[in-house]
Amino acid sequence: MLCAMKTLDCDVLVIGSGLAGLMTAYHLRGWGRVLVASKRDIGESNTQYAQGGIACVVDDKDTFEAHEQDTLATGGGLCHEEAVRAIVRAGPESVRELEALGIRFERRRGRAREYDLGQEGGHSRRRVMHAGDITGRELIRVLAQRIAEEKGIELAPNLMAIDLVTTSWLRHPGLNRCLGAYFIDRGSGEILAVRADHTVLATGGAGKVYLYTSNPDIATGDGVAMGWRAGLPIRNMEFVQFHPTCLYHPQAKSFLISEAVRGEGGRLINAAGESFTERYDPRGSLAPRDVVARAIDQEMKTRGDPCVYLDITHRSADFLRERFPNIYATCLRFGYDMAKTPIPVVPAAHYFVGGVVAGVDGRTEIEGLYAVGETASTGLHGANRLASNSLLEALVCSRLCARAIAAAPKPPADTPAIPDWKIGDAVPSDEAVVVEHNWHEVRTCMWDYVGIVRTDKRLERAIRRIRNLRREIRQYYLNYLVTPDVLELRNIAAVAELVIRSAQARRESRGLHYTLDCPTPDSSGPPRDTVIRDPPGGPIAPT
Ligand code: FAD
Ligand code: SIN
Repeated sequence: MLCAMKTLDCDVLVIGSGLAGLMTAYHLRGWGRVLVASKRDIGESNTQYAQGGIACVVDDKDTFEAHEQDTLATGGGLCHEEAVRAIVRAGPESVRELEALGIRFERRRGRAREYDLGQEGGHSRRRVMHAGDITGRELIRVLAQRIAEEKGIELAPNLMAIDLVTTSWLRHPGLNRCLGAYFIDRGSGEILAVRADHTVLATGGAGKVYLYTSNPDIATGDGVAMGWRAGLPIRNMEFVQFHPTCLYHPQAKSFLISEAVRGEGGRLINAAGESFTERYDPRGSLAPRDVVARAIDQEMKTRGDPCVYLDITHRSADFLRERFPNIYATCLRFGYDMAKTPIPVVPAAHYFVGGVVAGVDGRTEIEGLYAVGETASTGLHGANRLASNSLLEALVCSRLCARAIAAAPKPPADTPAIPDWKIGDAVPSDEAVVVEHNWHEVRTCMWDYVGIVRTDKRLERAIRRIRNLRREIRQYYLNYLVTPDVLELRNIAAVAELVIRSAQARRESRGLHYTLDCPTPDSSGPPRDTVIRDPPGGPIAPT
């Protein structure tokens, strides 16, 4: 059965309203009709929760070469050097644009001409520009305001993309081109299509694939899953970054304690009060995240403790309140005064290095389809992301993406229309409990078997389970009318499979991928990316 469907028309469809999506849209102001679709409130995104800030060379004593070198060293030999250079060197100009829009980065007390730069793991110097410890909230607040003033850009909250529509899926001859996407309106449950000359995937990360994550609920890897289903190559999904320090408290939902706290002298200690990170790496608590997260994991397992502690009690309450107002207040709400007592912390899934293969200008293999921000894999991060480099990447690449869109030729006149959505024999679900159960199963399976430390046996177990779950989810998807919950479940399960298959393909430990079966990097040849590409189609193919 066909579902009579509303179709919206625009020049550029941006899917996602984090930094990458909003900046792409803003750069296209005045160029054409831009629709920014976001599956929940416009502000709800990973960007919103960013604390530490944006890594950028703005200090006289800093150099592009030093930032590039830190990025390359953290990336474990897999960074694409041209992407690193392009993004690092475009940083200052992009940051100046943000300032012109009204973002105020912190300056040093008594030295208003100098930025107050944060220090984070893997950086050889202070380099992180921040707006207190709520950098992301400020970015979204100011950008959403500026965009609301623009007539040509429409913000559409509660519009969740289901799948991309491409000419190859429609078996239309010629170059494969993206025509837009199907959406579900979260409020009414209505399915609609958006037709666009250019479509930008800016859907962020996928922390919700894991049971414990610093990410908000929107982070279900929708862009990567949609890109994969559309036949795009997906790169380096085994590299999942676990942030070492999320608040350990049953009600805190893995609230992040910024690395900048360690940058200001915070030390990790175990339950016996011993500083332990130096036993794992001479850089101690400020070693890159993969090293610190593994050290914590090992320490907790060896001692049988549920968490470790972050101790910054040597700093005054006044300093902590001023430098980390949000973190200080949140910890206090959960009963911890950072100035008086070490905070209990655990690692949690934080950032997906892998994603849709894209250039620094967002271009993908499919004409008219772009990917920017955390959804994309530009090669900047290699096997591990340097702290605060992702906001930088989103900022710079969105600008380059907007430029590429503005310079692209018009699509051919004979591009087909988007067909009506097929609902087949689907009926409303009377088994929502299955969806909830499967959500939990995917996330638990990934946490237990595909976490910070992996083995061949755990990965084999995980792939068997995830494939069974994906079969069940597919059946559910076909039998019942779609809901946002089912769509997200389908996406986290797809991303889970991509992570496991990529991890199985990497027969070494490198960057964020660590396996006890091959505990060292493979030095027999040049480092290589893991690329998964499957035929397009799957659940959205006409049935
Ligand atoms: P997001 O900001 O996640 O935006 C994605 C958008 O897509 C959201 O609006 C979402 O609702 C929407 N969306 C998703 N799926 C769909 C769909 N199917 N249909 C429609 N809309 C959809 N990085 C740094 O560099 N510095 C930091 O200090 C820092 N701190 C962080 C702290 C936390 C707690 C977290 C979670 C991350 C942090 N990061 C930091 C990482 C960084 O915030 C993200 O990588 C970055 O913000 C990603 O931006 P984005 O625009 O690509 O995605
Ligand atoms: C943090 O503030 O520790 C997060 C920084 C990041 O993820 O880059």
